[in-house]
Amino acid sequence: MDLSLQDFLSLSEAERVPYIKDHAILYAQQFDRESLDYHCRLADTCRKMHKTSEGADFLSSLLRHWTALNFFVQPSSRTFLSFNSAQSTLGMRRASVRDINISSMSKGETLTDSIRTFISYVDLVVMRHGDSDAGAVAYWIATKARKININGEERPIPIVSGGSGTKQHPTQSLLDIYTLEKSFEPIGGIDGKTIMLVGDLKRGRTVRSLSYLMKNYNDVELVFAAPDRYQMQDDILQFLDTHDVPWRMVDSLSAAVADVDAIYMTRIQDEWDNLAPGTHEATSDEFCFKLEHLRNMKSTACLLHPLPKRDEIEEAVDYADDDRVVYWRQERNGMWMRVAIIAKLFGVGEAILERA
Ligand code: NCD
Repeated sequence: MDLSLQDFLSLSEAERVPYIKDHAILYAQQFDRESLDYHCRLADTCRKMHKTSEGADFLSSLLRHWTALNFFVQPSSRTFLSFNSAQSTLGMRRASVRDINISSMSKGETLTDSIRTFISYVDLVVMRHGDSDAGAVAYWIATKARKININGEERPIPIVSGGSGTKQHPTQSLLDIYTLEKSFEPIGGIDGKTIMLVGDLKRGRTVRSLSYLMKNYNDVELVFAAPDRYQMQDDILQFLDTHDVPWRMVDSLSAAVADVDAIYMTRIQDEWDNLAPGTHEATSDEFCFKLEHLRNMKSTACLLHPLPKRDEIEEAVDYADDDRVVYWRQERNGMWMRVAIIAKLFGVGEAILERA
């Protein structure tokens, strides 16, 4: 990296992508169709391979000599645990830092110094941070620090975003793609489908990253259902226009529920508001998914949610025992996609596919 940190940070996400190559995962714009298909195939292969004890032993032999750090200083259940399980599936040793208050950052250490310290001890950093640029800072410092050798190539320690600020959650969007592909397997995959994103689209990093990925599919249309104050932002809308991905906005979930192939619900991201501790903004009725919506959905459609969910999905939907409700499967898919992501980063993807 021949740029100063300041110059690197002054670039847009898209302008950073060529500098990141495949050495880190920070932005959904890094992925093309080929790499999305590859990750889905690899995730599926790992899932099947792990069903036999020989397969599970093989997977856990692959990265035994590497150590991962999960540096999560924003709340997390699924992303943290699924990365942890994925690393363990591949045999990695694991460490975690989950609270700034009990790390040296509370003594005033900068993020760059902290990351440089982590890199002295570990070979992979998965991080969740409130600052949208924290991953870029970490990657920049990784290019200056200790390198590791992967398949004969000297590379910086991989940095993987597990969610950054309100902007991006690239590994979530990969597992969402995997879930959509699996759900649409009988009806020709994601190409040609209409996907409705519902809720807080302004600060929801999952829906932002997923929207970026849609440029990789043919004839996909996006429908944005959100209150005005939480509608999808101009940067994403412009990106979609540039890449000829059609989109439209609706003012309630009911307006499109019967026409779309997938519904992706999200929670109001009110951790960014100054609400009294323990209180939450209620979701307005137009953007709550109810049992009646399930009845109106296409028979081939699916209902996703990155989770955690609150009042935006009526509890009865969970008890409906309907195969179109896929968010619990989506959660499990996340672990397999993260196995695939780490295997690919550490150059063992091909060995897995060859053995299958
Ligand atoms: C999401 C996140 O953290 O952005 N959760 C997740 O990783 N599955 C969604 C959310 O918190 O609403």
